[in-house]
Amino acid sequence: MTLLDGKATSEQIKLEIAEKVREIIARGGQRPHLIAILVGEDGASQTYVAGKERACQQVGFDSTIIRYPDTVDQSTLLDKIREINSDPNVHGLIVQLPLPKHIDEQLVINTIDPSKDVDGFHPENFGRMVLGLPTFVSATPFGIMELLERYKIETSGKKCVILGRSNIVGRPLANLLSQKGYPGDCTVTICHSRSKDIKSITLDADIIIAALGVPEFLKGDMVKEGAVVIDVGITRVKADNKAGFKLKGDVLFDEVAPKCSYITPVPGGVGPMTIVSLLKNTLRASGN
Ligand code: GUN
Repeated sequence: MTLLDGKATSEQIKLEIAEKVREIIARGGQRPHLIAILVGEDGASQTYVAGKERACQQVGFDSTIIRYPDTVDQSTLLDKIREINSDPNVHGLIVQLPLPKHIDEQLVINTIDPSKDVDGFHPENFGRMVLGLPTFVSATPFGIMELLERYKIETSGKKCVILGRSNIVGRPLANLLSQKGYPGDCTVTICHSRSKDIKSITLDADIIIAALGVPEFLKGDMVKEGAVVIDVGITRVKADNKAGFKLKGDVLFDEVAPKCSYITPVPGGVGPMTIVSLLKNTLRASGN
């Protein structure tokens, strides 16, 4: 069993991005600048946005966090997005999700200029991704594809089962893994909350991607010998430590890992790859 070390791989990619930033600055170019809008006090969202800001600093990007209370008006948020859209000194804009219930999330996403939508959530970018056109691919699917590529994992003709059909992970991944060429050409099945007999489906899979947000859902007896398992889950569960919680993946690691050819740990697997994919998209948005 080989661990797919997202932490080490992401550190390598950050070095590559930092080198590119040095080249940009040396030739008098503009430093890539990412703005993150954070609404409310959700602990997980605050942690994710802080992680994105730290990663920007590590590679030499400018980064700005704009914070609003969870009572903010939708119109205030939309006006701020329009202002950023027309600011030539900002290259990437993300609005951390989820948003409070009184705000129309899709309208917010639709308001972001597609050329600054480094999350790849705007319908134009999502559509381009489905068509296989150059675009911003959402960070988590992009990071997973890069991890498969960097570890040279064979995908052609493989049976790939994705657990979860979210717009952020399951659906885009199903598209990417079924596209022509490496790392694609998979035969893809999506399972979701209405799927029946999931165990018989995962038992037949060469590659399993668990992205349903149910801690330790995938057990040892649901996985065949030699499978590749990618764990996207990061649920906070109460723990007797300083933070008061620990992160649990969607995979029961101790049971599943011994059967795998490759597996991602949680933490240190998909999470760090997601962040560097956002950096790659921001670099691209800055015209580099
Ligand atoms: N919430 C959970 N994942 C993401 C993400 O990738 N981007 C944004 N903006 N919000 C999220």
